[in-house]
Amino acid sequence: MKKGFAFDLDGVITDTAKFHYVAWKELADSIGITIDLQFNEQLKGISRMDSLERILAYGGKENDYTAEQKEEMAADKNANYVKLLDDLSPADLLPGVKAFLDAAKEMNVPCSLASASKNAPFILKKLGVYDYFDAIVDPATLKKGKPDPEIFVRAAELIHIDPSEAVGFEDAQAGIEGIKGAGMYAVGVEGNEPLTEADMTIKSFEELNVSDLLNL
Ligand code: BG6
Ligand code: MG
Repeated sequence: MKKGFAFDLDGVITDTAKFHYVAWKELADSIGITIDLQFNEQLKGISRMDSLERILAYGGKENDYTAEQKEEMAADKNANYVKLLDDLSPADLLPGVKAFLDAAKEMNVPCSLASASKNAPFILKKLGVYDYFDAIVDPATLKKGKPDPEIFVRAAELIHIDPSEAVGFEDAQAGIEGIKGAGMYAVGVEGNEPLTEADMTIKSFEELNVSDLLNL
């Protein structure tokens, strides 16, 4: 029996991955590094600063900038990213997500958010689903990012259940590893790239039923 849900945000609840990509590409271009969509897969689920470090390493520039310059670059990227979110609205919820959250609420199933994004509360509000979450993990308080299980262990703790009693939803390989490492049941939301290690993969939440998941 499962008792609660832990959701990733970007790529699971809404498709903000495309905006992250646009903003990172602009930043990378400005320092002479070319990234493509295939490389972008590696950034999914990865924190802002770790994403920047990966881009710099990809371009062979990992030793070219001071910590202060990196902070500035990450802030520039975020400012551009947030601008791209300006028009985000409930219409940007991925298919089936709203109905799934409604059903979970109706059945009093606690939901927590396990996203690496510091913009998560702002995004949930723009999407009109902030109130559906009983808890939101603050990624600034974590020692390690995904694929470490810490964020999912915390997500379960905050809704007062054991990780083994939770179902986690993720679109990133690093996130699936985090869910499995925490001992949760992993549902992979697949985009273009296949996810390995997930207990179940779906294309959208339209394929899911809350009761079926609780009975796992
Ligand atoms: C994750 C995204 O959800 O959040 C990553 O998949 C992103 O691409 C990370 O880098 C951090 O997001 P933010 O909004 O704090 O820069
Ligand atoms: Mg994601």
